[in-house]
Amino acid sequence: MTTIQYTFPLNERTEIPAVGFGTYLVSNEAAPAAVQAAIGIGYRHVDTAAGYQNEEGVGAGIRAGLAASALAREDIFVTTKLWPGNPAWGDPPKTGEQTIAECQASLERLGLDYVDLYLIHAPYGGPERVAQWQALVDLLRAGKARSIGVSNFNRSHLEEIKAAGLTMPDANQIELHPWSQKQDLLAYMADHRIAPIAYSSLVPLSTWRVEGGQDSAKTEEMRRDGGIFAEMAKKYGVTDAQFLLRWGVQNGYAVLPKSLNPERMRQNIDLAGFKIDDEDMATIRTMDRGDGVAWATGDPSTAV
Ligand SMILES: NC(=O)c1ccc[n+]([C@@H]2O[C@H](COP(=O)([O-])OP(=O)(O)OC[C@H]3O[C@@H](n4cnc5c(N)ncnc54)[C@H](OP(=O)(O)O)[C@@H]3O)[C@@H](O)[C@H]2O)c1
Repeated sequence: MTTIQYTFPLNERTEIPAVGFGTYLVSNEAAPAAVQAAIGIGYRHVDTAAGYQNEEGVGAGIRAGLAASALAREDIFVTTKLWPGNPAWGDPPKTGEQTIAECQASLERLGLDYVDLYLIHAPYGGPERVAQWQALVDLLRAGKARSIGVSNFNRSHLEEIKAAGLTMPDANQIELHPWSQKQDLLAYMADHRIAPIAYSSLVPLSTWRVEGGQDSAKTEEMRRDGGIFAEMAKKYGVTDAQFLLRWGVQNGYAVLPKSLNPERMRQNIDLAGFKIDDEDMATIRTMDRGDGVAWATGDPSTAV
């Protein structure tokens, strides 16, 4: 196994591991064992969110994993996210003050003094969006987060932060895979030194979220076409999952594969032993199909 150990820069002080462990659809009950196993296998980043309702279990898994591997808190990178509210769902947007309290509540559930990255989960804050971001800047200054960012923000949401004269986010966590490449957004982010973090890298797989029953935005055409990556992966002697994750890492995106299957967990971090050649990278560049599919309710980046 050739585990990826390198990191990408996030800001002057922080680096993010190239491969992290995703925990969406991991229950609070399953999280302790899953996270402990992930740390044992070599993952050094765990991604959770208030909205996943598993922060207590993730925190327990981190403590157990660190103890079992004789690691310290500084050896692990932890991300969690603010649920910003969503007026369209009858869920009032969090104010700046509530954002600070939400971060503190997440830290308590995780059993941590700080997180390495705190994100606004989606641009659903409407009139409070800028106040939420200002609160994250305050949390950074107070040492509650080592870096701060957003998720599912499009260019106009990022421009709103810039227009308010606030520090730009360190990162934007977005759906990125060969069928959702978001080149324009990535170019804007590169210009503003906002690091991309890729989620749902494994969308094209036939095994993607089948058990969670959460894949309703995946089209029939996508279901039919997913096998192409298994074909491409054969040349390198790797699985289609490894191929898709390597594509992300090779582009400079930190990736966050989620699996509860120990063999897949090992596979998903075993990405250092091969490199996708330029010709295949160029072929994939032509495969973009636009918006993502991970949110069954539609593309969150179009929300305002
Ligand atoms: N910010 C956001 O809005 C947002 C949205 C979505 C996701 N995320 C984050 O990103 C993480 C990853 O995204 P995701 O959970 O949507 O999807 P993902 O990691 O791309 O794919 C997970 C799915 O693929 C299966 N799988 C994993 N490894 C596999 C392998 N090697 N071979 C075959 N199948 C495999 C898993 O099943 P098994 O568990 O059965 O292996 C699961 O059904 C999330 O867990 C979360 O932390 C963030």
